[in-house]
Amino acid sequence: MPMPNDVQLVDAPIAPNYDTVYLIEDLIAVNNSASVCPAMCERDDRRSAAIAEEAAKPLSGFAPVMAYNNAKDILRSSAIRQGMEGGDYFGDKDPGRIPVIFLDGEVHRKRRGQIARYFTPKAINDRHRLVMERTTGVLMDQLRRSGSGQLDVMSLRLASDVAAEIVGLTASDASAMSGRLRKLFRSSSRSKRPGLRGKLGKAENILRTLYFHRRDVVPAIRHRQQHDMDDVISYLVREGFSDQEVLVECMTYATAGMITTREFIVMVAWQLLESDELRGIFLEGNETVQLGILDEILRIDPVAGYVYRRAEEDMETEDGKVVKAGDQFRIDIRTANLDEAVTGECPFAIDAERSKRQRMPSSWLSFGDGPHRCPGAQVAMQETRVFIDALLRIPGIRLAKPPRLGWLEDINGYELHGAMVECDRG
Ligand code: HEM
Repeated sequence: MPMPNDVQLVDAPIAPNYDTVYLIEDLIAVNNSASVCPAMCERDDRRSAAIAEEAAKPLSGFAPVMAYNNAKDILRSSAIRQGMEGGDYFGDKDPGRIPVIFLDGEVHRKRRGQIARYFTPKAINDRHRLVMERTTGVLMDQLRRSGSGQLDVMSLRLASDVAAEIVGLTASDASAMSGRLRKLFRSSSRSKRPGLRGKLGKAENILRTLYFHRRDVVPAIRHRQQHDMDDVISYLVREGFSDQEVLVECMTYATAGMITTREFIVMVAWQLLESDELRGIFLEGNETVQLGILDEILRIDPVAGYVYRRAEEDMETEDGKVVKAGDQFRIDIRTANLDEAVTGECPFAIDAERSKRQRMPSSWLSFGDGPHRCPGAQVAMQETRVFIDALLRIPGIRLAKPPRLGWLEDINGYELHGAMVECDRG
């Protein structure tokens, strides 16, 4: 197993102590045990490991947490707070008006309670599934007519339509909005470059954000001010959020819900189009089998590579390790999901039976855990399943060009760009 670059804990500004060093020992144990697997364990099905190792730039000052159970304990503890970058910006703001991902404690619990209704199995079946099927149908018709399509453009259109319905960004043309968001996300990546190119990227990013605000967010707000609806923007309007505060919340959903799903769909398509065996199991399987395969792909190639946390109070993990108030952690989802203590043998191989056999939650840590666990997890899994099932059934479907891999700091994860599929024209 390649060693992740984050084992350089000694360089972290916070003093390493015995409470954090044990996390490294756990990683070493994981690495050693990987070599004892028979036949299947020769396999390494991961597609994003190399780019993560090469390009990920985790924040310094956060001790890496790599063992699954320690990660879970930290994420679930009431002594732990969100530690992601950008939170300081909201330090002096009214907590009632801060995006959900930056909230903690009671105010976070309340906000999650308020948005939970958009993510229930009933909401997925009665509302979101219609959008998933409608947009997938449109995309597959276009693909069949033209004979080729760019996967990340198609997957963003789906992810954008589904999230837009949940958020309430439905007062502008869906296809045009997806295009605007695509350019906006690209400019956000460019803004992270060094030097002049980064400065130009930042300027472009500001302009594209303003454009998205004017063309998509403001019309949605004005519509909700006249007609209260059942979506996130309607709720924010009722709560008296300003236009700018609504924009910030929309950007949270765009990043957390659209970019992530775009990448995941392309990863699944890439894996299944290149493996006759896995594709066969997927196509012959029922919904449970299909979701099992998606779970495994997301386990070995989690879209979000890590999340950050800090301890507000002292706490003890289940195995008796002490965490001190002020300690800061980077939960390394990529490594924790490969922890052989919980995955069982052959952690790098896709094995659709694994979570059932190991009695583990299906998505492992790929959607986080604890109070901030992704509310959109089931939405993302279902829309991916619906899209991939339809794609793989298109006559003559094949991967004409695999994706180029990149790294997106916005989601601390991989980006898969430019993959092309071709099919028989119909
Ligand atoms: C494959 C797709 C997705 C992945 C891998 C993903 C991953 C994650 C992860 C790891 C977190 C936890 C962040 C943390 O603990 O700091 C999270 C939070 C969140 N996700 Fe997702 N997500 C996906 C899809 C979605 C979708 C479809 C939506 C909504 C339409 C969504 C909305 C959110 C929101 C609002 C949060 C913040 C929740 C909170 O802080 O309480 N995500 N996501």
